[in-house]
Amino acid sequence: MTHHSSAKVPIVAAPMAGGPTTPELCAAVADAGGAGVIAGADRSGEEIAKDLAETRNLTRGPIGVNLFVSEQITDLSRAHREFSQYRTYLMKRYSELPIRWPTFEECSHSWSNRDQLEALVAAPPDFVSFTFGYPDEEAQKVAESMGLPVWVTCASREMIDEALRRGLGALIVQGAEAGGHRSVTSMTDDPGPETTAELVEYAALGGAEHVIAAGGIRSGRDIATMLGHGAEQVQVGTMFLATDESGLSDEGKDLVTKGGGVALTRSFSGRPALGFTSLVSDEAVPPKLYPHINKLTAPLRAWASANREVEYQSIWAGDPCRNVARGSAAEIAQRLMRELEEAE
Ligand SMILES: Cc1cc2nc3c(=O)[nH]c(=O)nc-3n(C[C@H](O)[C@H](O)[C@H](O)COP(=O)(O)O)c2cc1C
Repeated sequence: MTHHSSAKVPIVAAPMAGGPTTPELCAAVADAGGAGVIAGADRSGEEIAKDLAETRNLTRGPIGVNLFVSEQITDLSRAHREFSQYRTYLMKRYSELPIRWPTFEECSHSWSNRDQLEALVAAPPDFVSFTFGYPDEEAQKVAESMGLPVWVTCASREMIDEALRRGLGALIVQGAEAGGHRSVTSMTDDPGPETTAELVEYAALGGAEHVIAAGGIRSGRDIATMLGHGAEQVQVGTMFLATDESGLSDEGKDLVTKGGGVALTRSFSGRPALGFTSLVSDEAVPPKLYPHINKLTAPLRAWASANREVEYQSIWAGDPCRNVARGSAAEIAQRLMRELEEAE
């Protein structure tokens, strides 16, 4: 099975769940010669299939789908208790807002990766990538029967070792600079400090067949550096956040173009993610429970977007958050390619 997408340009538009990734963003980067990735996250297969069909209508370029691997909760009664405590805290803290806070059951994981992939059999993507772990046997079987190259997101040397041990050779290597959630396998794990360059080198020297560097790409020179360390492609998130095609809120786009300090927080989702700090991330320490906390805070974030209240939105971005500009995604991709040619 080949792991390569048919992209002509080594830029993959990162899947960015929670709004930024749209069919238009995926299509624009694929049309520019790169590849787009739909943020399947933990949505239903039918919802993902709809996004994929919409994207296919806009481009003939390569389009992947990204899925989250779910983790079984071992101590359900403790999870329930901790969730309820955090829910009560949020209800009191935001009592003036017209929000219905979902229950534990409503916040549980709904779909298996196999279910999600089976919904794509009739019109498959060009590749599938996994985040928060490795695809289980059932999902791998379906991916294989669909002829789909499988990419796995690794956020540490240990994950790279484990992926290679499992025979997975296409690795999205995600360093500490990467915006959004870090792809640690367990929701209780804290991410390591290794940079993208360090992990790319480690994966390439370790024998990975196809390395995609994710984290901190802000210029064509950064791409050249990653290719020099052994990457074949780069997965770029932050640079596309403020594009016309990105679904990030307008105030979120203002924040990322202004730039500034970002920090790791579990506040919005229960899992560690890198982004701008806000009132919510400054005040609250939630339990390490995913996707429960993510789903619990979803109505707060939706209310904040609708009311342009940036303090209650999760604005994920990479470190450093600089060089992020407004404009079309094609312009950003072309600028990165021009800079790459100059750097080579
Ligand atoms: C807003 C946002 C949302 C993200 N959502 C996802 C996601 O759904 N799946 C995923 O694998 N990675 C996600 N990521 C991480 C990216 O895939 C990628 O690793 C990261 O953006 C690369 O670093 P950069 O932001 O410095 O370019 C997200 C990143 C951002 C900024």
